[in-house]
Amino acid sequence: MTEHAGRQPETALSQKLFIRTYGCQMNLYDSARMADVLAPLGFEPVTSPEGADMVIINTCHIREKAAEKTFSELGRLRRLKEAKAAAGGRMVLAVAGCVAQAEGEEILRRAPYVDIVLGPQTYHRLPEMLARAKRAGDAAAGRSGVLDTEFPVEPKFDHLPAARAEGPAAFLTVQEGCDKFCTFCVVPYTRGAEYSRPAAEIVAEARRLAGRGVVEIMLLGQNVNAYHGEGPDGRSWGLGRLCLALAEIEGLARLRYTTSHPRDMDDELLRAHRDCDQLMPYLHLPAQAGSERVLAAMNRRYTRGDYLAAVERLRRARPDIALSGDFIVGFPGESETDFEATLDLVREARYAQAYSFKYSPRPGTPAALLPGQVAEAVKAERLQRLQALLAQQQLAFNRAQVGRRLAVLLERAGRHPGQLVGRSPYMQAVHLAAPVTRLGQLVTVEIEAAAVNSLSGRLPRDERAAA
Ligand code: SAH
Ligand code: SF4
Ligand code: F3S
Repeated sequence: MTEHAGRQPETALSQKLFIRTYGCQMNLYDSARMADVLAPLGFEPVTSPEGADMVIINTCHIREKAAEKTFSELGRLRRLKEAKAAAGGRMVLAVAGCVAQAEGEEILRRAPYVDIVLGPQTYHRLPEMLARAKRAGDAAAGRSGVLDTEFPVEPKFDHLPAARAEGPAAFLTVQEGCDKFCTFCVVPYTRGAEYSRPAAEIVAEARRLAGRGVVEIMLLGQNVNAYHGEGPDGRSWGLGRLCLALAEIEGLARLRYTTSHPRDMDDELLRAHRDCDQLMPYLHLPAQAGSERVLAAMNRRYTRGDYLAAVERLRRARPDIALSGDFIVGFPGESETDFEATLDLVREARYAQAYSFKYSPRPGTPAALLPGQVAEAVKAERLQRLQALLAQQQLAFNRAQVGRRLAVLLERAGRHPGQLVGRSPYMQAVHLAAPVTRLGQLVTVEIEAAAVNSLSGRLPRDERAAA
């Protein structure tokens, strides 16, 4: 398939596009790119599905009843679609993302009013799917939805229009898919095999973003530090090398990347953390568990010792690094002793923040079939204990910033008039009073107070006078 976006003649009328996004940053990036692909056809983003000409739900399959939630949301959208039809219009309803990839046929069977089901690797073909869906819709009888959940040989990135940017911080996908096959995880099935975009393509996209005023880029990948794209010199580049190249782009003050796998923290990347000022001192490095036995059963391919050693090397390279992570409690066979090993690892590694989840058996993954599934009440109790410990560490980390001056990128208006919200180098949300004209800028903020989830502060006195 080689068709490009935006060649259809029906560009004149403005049409309303509503996209709802679930799941990870990759899905947020994908939603923005779907909007980019549809923009040349006259689609303008709107903030409510009511009356929209096209509605896309971009789904996530990572945990808990994802498919059921998708079906109940589709039920609600069906009523909006019918209302639109009764008014003589047409709403095209599309399901994208990881539930679509995993359950495509089932969606069309159970929700036949869905027009398009597409996977994460085919959305560059949306204009063509839309044309097909419209033809099918017009042919009243025997209509069937369009299903495109292939893993095309040519990556979608070769066919996407230039990314647009809103605001000073942007996402940029550099790597996709995963070959690690942790036994609990759907990602290798929904996103497919690991693929790294060529470095030159990424640098060009980053330049365009910087040219539009983007100050901070978050590099995305399901396994981002496994990045091994083709460099302009013909060699394979790792993520560290890529960061150094991106750091040279004029105007790009901040780089981040997520999500990393502990096995792929190589020396080059650690050197980049040491030497590259643009690379922010924050790392999301999921451990998942602290027990050797559980880590092995998860097929994580590192030991507890390996994980802690990676954290130590990181801290040697960048002593102030803010460590983040992911944890799963109640993996099949997890005993109280195993769980305590997780608490123990948390105490040793010291997190600035972290996400934690109850294990959720995912259809089609090996762990779903393991004996020793843990009772819901036990999972809930463990999660609560883990989260209490993590909240304590998070508060301690935030409190340690009080009295410091931090560089904050002002990203959006706050809830109160005159308030703006930005991010510190450590990824904390920072609230402060500042004129709205400073939005998009990097400013120095004196941190005055800390809570579990955010900091607050003020512009230094001379700055306040200038503003
Ligand atoms: N690539 C990343 C994780 C991507 S999924 C990594 O390897 O660490 C994001 C997080 O969701 C995971 O880190 C894990 O903590 C959680 N997760 C994934 N599958 C899960 C499941 N079946 N049950 C509960 N949590 C899960
Ligand atoms: Fe899933 Fe991450 Fe494991 Fe890949 S490395 S299978 S994305 S948890
Ligand atoms: Fe969810 Fe797919 Fe991301 S399952 S977490 S949207 S890769």
